[in-house]
Amino acid sequence: MKLPNLEEARKRNKIDYKTIDFKIDEKLKNKFNGKKFFIKTYGCQMNEHDSENIEALLTSIGFKKVSKYTDADLVLLNTCSIRENAHNKAFGMLGRLKHLKMDKKDLIIGLCGCMAQEASVIDEIMKDYKFVNFVFGTHNLYQLPEIIDEAIRTNKQQIEVFSREGDLVEGLPVIRTNNYKAYVNIIYGCDKFCTYCIVPYTRGSERSRRREDILKEIDELIKDGYKEVTLLGQNVNAYGKDLYEDYHMGELLEDIAKKDIPRIRFMTSHPWDFTDKMIEVIGKYPNIMPSVHLPVQSGSDRILKLMGRRYTKESYLELFNKIKKTVKGVTISTDIIVGFPGETEEDFLETLDLVNTCKYDNAFTFIFSARKGTPADKLKDNTTLKEKEDRLQRLNEVVNNYFLENNKKLEGKTLPVLVEGVSSKKNMYYGYSDTNKLINFTSKDKVSVGDIVNVKINSAKTWSLDGEKVK
Ligand code: 5AD
Ligand code: SF4
Repeated sequence: MKLPNLEEARKRNKIDYKTIDFKIDEKLKNKFNGKKFFIKTYGCQMNEHDSENIEALLTSIGFKKVSKYTDADLVLLNTCSIRENAHNKAFGMLGRLKHLKMDKKDLIIGLCGCMAQEASVIDEIMKDYKFVNFVFGTHNLYQLPEIIDEAIRTNKQQIEVFSREGDLVEGLPVIRTNNYKAYVNIIYGCDKFCTYCIVPYTRGSERSRRREDILKEIDELIKDGYKEVTLLGQNVNAYGKDLYEDYHMGELLEDIAKKDIPRIRFMTSHPWDFTDKMIEVIGKYPNIMPSVHLPVQSGSDRILKLMGRRYTKESYLELFNKIKKTVKGVTISTDIIVGFPGETEEDFLETLDLVNTCKYDNAFTFIFSARKGTPADKLKDNTTLKEKEDRLQRLNEVVNNYFLENNKKLEGKTLPVLVEGVSSKKNMYYGYSDTNKLINFTSKDKVSVGDIVNVKINSAKTWSLDGEKVK
């Protein structure tokens, strides 16, 4: 078996892939009736959605889900590689599972997701974590029934990890966690190779799903009463470029917007591929939610260049302003990394300056984490962790102030909210506004999960808003 090789991945050319239809092996259907599984998911929405497929695959071969890992016959960790702490969490959990397995010899332990695509992790599992029964990569998800069967039958450690992405698989079963909001993959992988990022290696080349497969999935979701779809991809804006001459993200968004689905979201968008057509379509259709995640990573041109981001502070701001101008009431959120190798105080101040210009509605902020095999891992880094932590804290203070300032402007306004449930605060419902704000609200009459209701905002907090349902 060939293990994933990061050097080779970087040299890859456009790949040739085909779409294949998934079929469950009839012999394995319900084979494991009575067995119980527990799945722990780390990381992003992609992983969450993969876990929805994994859950359905396990159910089809007879497993039942349990909510405590100590009750399970099979424990599966769907892992994330994006930063070191994600790694550490998964290895910490493996430590706990090792102890559990001492008392429970038949326990089956599996590891999948992005960490499974890293050769160094596989080496470590084979050497020091022999109690792990099987490992499968992000490209091997559909083989799970066979892998489990083999691992149980042979009692040998199974490692099934394609070093390169394979074909795109349609028709995988899915058990969705939410009955009203659904994730829909539109593109897999990433070809951007930002120098700090492990994703292009763990998730492979950009591969778009065929438009007819996406539209069919959305039709089915509408039939099942779904109110919101989130189109998923590491970079959704690259949609279609590998498949079609003239059918890209703007066209796909427009086709979906013409359908009878109340809410459409999409994530994540690299600023590089954000076309005018997309902006126009987002502005035009009321069922495309006015909320855009536009990761900037840094406000310093020097650092952006070292990150390989392909834009400058100026061109980012140009795009930012165009979106703000065209899409009425849009909220924009972002991701920011501090402490990239070589980032100086001046570079950091450029980032603060950009944040002061953009006044984001939400921001996910991180300290740079060196990922083995990525170009940034080899860059010289003289900044101490203490300085980086200090920058993160200063940045967080600034972004948090803007969250509150923006939310305060919503006091007295009425927002449409998709109800998700009853909040821990007594007698309050919660849900998200069109602009992706978390809203807690009271209601004199009964509301149901899945309703879209109007909520008048009474008071704003940094991360949420309180209000009451109005007509
Ligand atoms: N270190 C810190 N943050 C990272 N991200 C991606 N890779 C790294 C890394 N090596 C952040 C980026 C990205 C988000 C999903 O995670 O901000 O947009
Ligand atoms: Fe990573 Fe996103 Fe850059 Fe792709 S575009 S390499 S997923 S940060």
